[in-house]
Amino acid sequence: MSNKRLLHIDSSARLTGSDSRRLSSQFVRQWIDNHPEYQVIERDLVSKPLPHLDETMLAAMMSPTEQHTPEMARIAERINMLIDEFLSADAVVLGVPMYNLGIPSTLKAYIDHIVMAGRTFTYTEKGAVGLVTDKPVFIITARGGVHSGMVTDQQVPYLKTLFNFLGIQQVNFIHSEGLNMGDELRSKGIAEAQAEIGRYAA
Ligand SMILES: Cc1cc2nc3c(=O)[nH]c(=O)nc-3n(C[C@H](O)[C@H](O)[C@H](O)COP(=O)(O)O)c2cc1C
Repeated sequence: MSNKRLLHIDSSARLTGSDSRRLSSQFVRQWIDNHPEYQVIERDLVSKPLPHLDETMLAAMMSPTEQHTPEMARIAERINMLIDEFLSADAVVLGVPMYNLGIPSTLKAYIDHIVMAGRTFTYTEKGAVGLVTDKPVFIITARGGVHSGMVTDQQVPYLKTLFNFLGIQQVNFIHSEGLNMGDELRSKGIAEAQAEIGRYAA
């Protein structure tokens, strides 16, 4: 019976020909082959984009529900739905292209929805504490160049710190790099990522 959930999040602006989408789909197939008790929840941040933070959204996040206008109530419903979906997942896999050294703005908009005081983190006397139960998160990056371990990699420090902040320690990265650096490096980058996917999805 399917009683566990793998949340599959894609963020490449390319709906066809995307390496991060192809690799994250491969991860999902292999994960399900090896963990048949899982069902997959799909969240595509490009075919169903989320709005950026704006004044009304901030007001909806920071005010009690009884003060919500109908528009704020709709926004709060969307935020709560996304947080419930994230919290209900037993594992999460993300396909994340590198755009201008960082993550796609579609993924940032998603993060701006699910990071919410009182639901996914809280403030204490000792500072902020994550409220999310630890679970494995697999982040599959696609990069035209090679950035691993270099200062130009602004994806790993940000995403690792962010998920740690929410209480998630099991943050795993699988990089496909050098994808725009000629056929040889591209093939090597894809093959290395596929081998890592095989290991993590086992
Ligand atoms: C807007 C844009 C910005 C990019 N910025 C970078 C970058 O900063 N560093 C890099 O190595 N590759 C960069 N690339 C190349 C992509 O990371 C690469 O093509 C990757 O395969 C995209 O993921 P996808 O195949 O899932 O769409 C950029 C591509 C686009 C379209």
